[in-house]
Amino acid sequence: MNMQRENRKLEHIRQALQTESGPLSAGWEEIRIVHQALLKGNWDEVDLSVSLFHKKLALPIYINAMTGGALGLEEINRMLAETAREYGLGMAVGSQTSALQNDQRELVASYKIAREVNPDGFLMANVGAGVKPEMALAAVEMIEADALQLHLNGVQELTMAEGDRSFHGLAENIEKICRLVPVPVIVKEVGNGLSKEVAGQLAQLGVQGVDTGGSGGTNFAAIELNRFPRAHLDGLRFWGIPSAISLLEVLEALEGGAPKLHVFASGGVTCAQQVLKALVLGADAVGIAGCFLHILQQDGPAALRKAIAKMTEELKIMMLLCSVSNINQLKKVPVVITGLTGEWCVQRGINTQKYAQRGIAF
Ligand SMILES: Cc1cc2nc3c(=O)[nH]c(=O)nc-3n(C[C@H](O)[C@H](O)[C@H](O)COP(=O)(O)O)c2cc1C
Repeated sequence: MNMQRENRKLEHIRQALQTESGPLSAGWEEIRIVHQALLKGNWDEVDLSVSLFHKKLALPIYINAMTGGALGLEEINRMLAETAREYGLGMAVGSQTSALQNDQRELVASYKIAREVNPDGFLMANVGAGVKPEMALAAVEMIEADALQLHLNGVQELTMAEGDRSFHGLAENIEKICRLVPVPVIVKEVGNGLSKEVAGQLAQLGVQGVDTGGSGGTNFAAIELNRFPRAHLDGLRFWGIPSAISLLEVLEALEGGAPKLHVFASGGVTCAQQVLKALVLGADAVGIAGCFLHILQQDGPAALRKAIAKMTEELKIMMLLCSVSNINQLKKVPVVITGLTGEWCVQRGINTQKYAQRGIAF
């Protein structure tokens, strides 16, 4: 069983690198920022930092959960963690279940490395939302995590030939985990998106953050169907809520709620402009998984550093174009929501005018 889980981890990396993003679009192209030509501000005053649960990140970006738990994966987490440390990114490790069920030294080391190379960084533990609460606690302790991600991956489990088929009691379990672990809990999707109904339910369970994990990037139905083709399930490659829409749904559900939950936007983010759009809509930070893995595995750690340096420069340019000097001010920039995303919002009762008619004091 554990061997099977370890092999699957390696297979997921291999398949993720071979499987194209989509087929749904993440929808970022339908979010259009209104350019305001009369700029104000100054390059040296632009601050890209954000605070997440009292820890500061130099950039509003985190490397989302991917890996650990099989021989050879320690090296990937080490390279990701070094990049996170160098650029001030947050990071989540991949699901720790394999190392929790089998505390073989090498498996545990493949996660612990993320903390060892980045002792002060913002690091998130990761397990499935259905694990026993004590296991969730052990995952946090294993890497001295600042927060815990609990993943919801129903589409993946149901397209995985050997996946789970029983989902009773997830909400109650999340509630128990929130009571037990000493760090904030974030519930995340893995690429099929959270809806406003689910975000609203999660807010009642004691979680302190949600990660939208929308469709349009890494597609686990496609990964599982490529691992083990079953033509009658091919339609599931199209199942899910595109990322931009999922973010709007989650923001709508959580608006005005107290306490305020952190909103992590992710799914199909591949460039600085998409990061900026997610922040303008209202995300607190933006997660990138597949895109970073591709760069790292295909072109190496220097290429990943270069990509992040370029993203930083572009983000700064766009902040100046928006005449804002910090990430929080981005939430006042007017943005027009077009196409399918706009139509979806109308039907789901999400008011797009409040985004389009935002005013900055020019
Ligand atoms: C190879 C790979 C492994 C992943 N493993 C996990 C995991 O163990 N736990 C989890 O919550 N999400 C996992 N994810 C999902 C990502 O954290 C993220 O939610 C998803 O890939 C969507 O983001 P993206 O489009 O930027 O890749 C994995 C993604 C990839 C590419």
